[in-house]
Amino acid sequence: MNKMPLLSVSDLTVAFETDDGDIAITDQVSFQISPGEIFGLVGESGCGKTVTALALLKLLPMPGGKILSGRVLLRGRDILSLDPEGVRDVRGKSISMIFQEPAAALNPLLTVERQIMECFDYHPFEGDKNKRILDLLHRVGFPDPHRILAAYPHELSGGMLQRVMIAMALIMKPDLIIADEPTTALDVTVQAQIMELLVEMKQETDTSILLITHNLGLIAQYADRLAVMYAGRIVEESSVQAFLDNPLHPYTKGLLDALPKLTIGESEIVPIPGQVPQPRDYAVGCRFRDRCGKAFARCIEKPPLYHVAEDQQVACFLYAQRIES
Ligand SMILES: Nc1ncnc2c1ncn2[C@@H]1O[C@H](COP(=O)(O)OP(=O)(O)O)[C@@H](O)[C@H]1O
Ligand SMILES: [Mg+2]
Repeated sequence: MNKMPLLSVSDLTVAFETDDGDIAITDQVSFQISPGEIFGLVGESGCGKTVTALALLKLLPMPGGKILSGRVLLRGRDILSLDPEGVRDVRGKSISMIFQEPAAALNPLLTVERQIMECFDYHPFEGDKNKRILDLLHRVGFPDPHRILAAYPHELSGGMLQRVMIAMALIMKPDLIIADEPTTALDVTVQAQIMELLVEMKQETDTSILLITHNLGLIAQYADRLAVMYAGRIVEESSVQAFLDNPLHPYTKGLLDALPKLTIGESEIVPIPGQVPQPRDYAVGCRFRDRCGKAFARCIEKPPLYHVAEDQQVACFLYAQRIES
């Protein structure tokens, strides 16, 4: 990859304040996204994907959420140090977000049309606004966009709200779309339609996409690279091809083994034993070790990220010897 990254996240540690003090949810999360790249962020529920996404745009729930350390650079511009006006400028125009919970992100008192029109209040737009809106609503799968525009959020299903949000996120042709479980509420055919639309955006305007999902099928089909998160940490980062051909981390292998297979005769699904820990129970050292069949003495230390191949890094001591010897 020789292009300058569009987004560069380094050492991002996010915490929530509690009566017992700050509890860190993520631990030094780092990744980079290139222009026009679809970058997947995967991991089981509760591992800190949404918290990471919200932190990128300074959208953590307040009071309570806070960034303990880290930098987020958009084309070299430091987002976390921007004042509220600066962040508003970035949001929607340079970076837009498709939230995991569309019902919570839309205002119940305003029609869809009013809320979509508000997108234009913050950023200049050249061209026919109505045409752009109708076109996008069509492309997210509404045969009668005028009916949708006149509706209030409560009159629409979860899947319809999700599609409205996706249309809103695309209006300004942002450089980066953060899509947090964008298709979870949608049935499979609409899901495919939405993903194709995101791919078209990538091709037409070099838009990058941070695709957050626990659906590895979506990643395999659409992403270029991915990071696997476990208990607040990135445990593996690689190209999608390397991830499918040669997964490294025992957790990553476990995720792939836990997938239902379509091939007849290969139907064995192997679930990962145990459960994802709560942030207040995160172990010292490797956080996956009590679920890991390969754990050994050294796993009580925190594993660094080892560069195993040009397009693969893994935080696991199983790969230490290769590098250190
Ligand atoms: N507002 C909040 N206050 C306290 N803890 C939170 C809050 N939001 C999320 N968390 C905790 O942060 C952890 C990561 O959550 P989240 O980022 O939503 O995970 P994911 O998106 O990977 O499923 C979870 O343990 C969750 O309980
Ligand atoms: Mg989430």
